[in-house]
Amino acid sequence: MEQKIEQVIFRLQKQADYENKNKDKIVHEKRMLAITKETAMFYNILLKATKAKKILEIGLSTGYSTLWFADAVISNTKKSERKNAITTIEQSQYKIQIAKKNFEDADVSEIIDIKEGLAIDVLSDLSKKLEKSQDLFDFAFIDADKENSIKYFETCLKMVKKGGIIAADNILDNDDMKKYAKHTQKKPGVVSVTVPIGWGEEITFKTK
Ligand SMILES: C[S@@+](CC[C@H](N)C(=O)[O-])C[C@H]1O[C@@H](n2cnc3c(N)ncnc32)[C@H](O)[C@@H]1O
Repeated sequence: MEQKIEQVIFRLQKQADYENKNKDKIVHEKRMLAITKETAMFYNILLKATKAKKILEIGLSTGYSTLWFADAVISNTKKSERKNAITTIEQSQYKIQIAKKNFEDADVSEIIDIKEGLAIDVLSDLSKKLEKSQDLFDFAFIDADKENSIKYFETCLKMVKKGGIIAADNILDNDDMKKYAKHTQKKPGVVSVTVPIGWGEEITFKTK
């Protein structure tokens, strides 16, 4: 792993550990709400193994998961292919400012295109553009407002290439995400499984 990315991840990891032990001390809007370290490592390995080059994330927060994705993208690409390889969506200006600083410190700002706004609106814009270019994503990660995750999945399905993956967090600790898993597991044209790591990940492989 690149040293600068590792340093920032280490700092954010300590922050996430503190947050998880002191949930009542930090107001919800300021919490990282990050995936666990094991989950992050799992995605980092999955992305490197599948040689993913183009990634979509719904729910940036302060950039913890994104940094693990950026490390995989660096492994999978030549320098000339990396500009805006990751598109990530966040509605909170407060979190975007912190994420930008984290990306500067990790020297990955060039790789990451932050889209500020409501996920539903940003996704609608992005999917219209992709319909024309057909430059589809290899991997999409859904980790924002849980009640809208099925809608995000349906849009992501059009934006991810055949053989690509749509993943989502919080399958084991959130009722909306349990419905999400049922939805993806019944959906034609995909194969989907819940992986009991961290807060629970749904991994959906697009077969058609
Ligand atoms: C669980 S956190 C993301 C954590 C991040 N993926 C990580 O592991 O480091 C969810 C984020 O989604 C953002 N969010 C929630 N609802 C949203 C929406 N409708 N549109 C855009 N962002 C949203 C929140 O502000 C929050 O920062």
